[in-house]
Amino acid sequence: MTASGIMLRALNGEAVFPPPVWMMRQAGRYLPEYRELRKRANGFLDLCYTPDLAVEVTLQPIRRFEFDAAILFSDILVIPHALGRDLAFEEGRGPVMTPMTGTDVARLDGSGLHQHLAPVYETVRRLRSELPVETALLGFCGAPWTVATYMIAGRGTPDQAPTRLFAYREPAAFAALLKVLADVSADYLIRQIDAGADAVQIFDSWSGVLDEVSFQRFCVEPVAEMVRKVRQVHPDVPVIGFPKGAGSLYMGYREKTGVTALGLDWSVPFSQAKQLQANGPVQGNLDTMRLVAGGRALDEGVDMILSQLGNGPLVFNLGHGIVPETPIDHVQAMLDRVRGTKR
Ligand code: CP3
Repeated sequence: MTASGIMLRALNGEAVFPPPVWMMRQAGRYLPEYRELRKRANGFLDLCYTPDLAVEVTLQPIRRFEFDAAILFSDILVIPHALGRDLAFEEGRGPVMTPMTGTDVARLDGSGLHQHLAPVYETVRRLRSELPVETALLGFCGAPWTVATYMIAGRGTPDQAPTRLFAYREPAAFAALLKVLADVSADYLIRQIDAGADAVQIFDSWSGVLDEVSFQRFCVEPVAEMVRKVRQVHPDVPVIGFPKGAGSLYMGYREKTGVTALGLDWSVPFSQAKQLQANGPVQGNLDTMRLVAGGRALDEGVDMILSQLGNGPLVFNLGHGIVPETPIDHVQAMLDRVRGTKR
């Protein structure tokens, strides 16, 4: 059974008011029930690869807040892991991988990919049968550029200098890496949709560090290829693109990649967001620190988004993932304000 609620209506271009709401990283450390379960699990990856646990964590924020969409609990880095790269999540450090060299690219092994990811597909299947019909189930993956930055640096960096340098010094190896990632990530999304995902989001969290030419080559073209592949199999399933930090390069991104909806970070001005919304749905874009601060800062942030973007197709969301310090009461206050607002 597929979902039929306001999330899919908004993604299909309808101006729903009040708009559907969900939050990037809505399952995670700001929730006491997540922290509790995380303590009992054998590490973060164990949560991702054990359907019982991944289903439970995905449902936690839905039970508490009744968001209009659930996002599969997993991580963008399960793709390099499934390609044979090592991966660990260290407390307080985030993901750690062995940095990749040019010669490693040819050794990436996708032969066991779908077997490795089978627990993820099982999680999606169970979720779709457990969620209410009005709640959309979102699948996701990282965009090739963003996933490549972690594979090459072996960790998060503030500016992705190691990967930019790699891309310029070893253009052939880098192009080959992006191609592998685009191919397997498209297959991964197709399988998530086969298993019951109602829409998918492609996270390009690091697209804001590139110049115009490289943005086109490393962000736009691989995502366009992925969208083309997904559409061949699932022509009607909405795809949300999130090229975080793209700035003025947000203009044209929807048209060039073919994504259905555009995820906006909070630095996108409303004047630009409205122009983008004239061509289709937008998602976003509350500053996560307004949510941490609460009170007037939060109310003002919510009101601005609703008044500026509430007349067109909008999915209310944060401009990036919720941070662990966020008070739970503020999430409820945000929801009450969005849902209680009259046009
Ligand atoms: O949104 C959701 O609730 C679904 C789950 C989800 C996670 N990661 C769980 C997670 C999603 C959609 C992601 C995406 C993701 N992962 C991105 C793109 C979005 C973004 O925030 O930019 C990126 C870049 C990653 C890679 C990653 N995973 C990093 C850099 C980190 C460390 C920083 C951090 O937030 O801890 C992770 C770990 C991670 N992924 C956690 C969770 C709940 C925390 C792990 C823990 O419990 O210790």
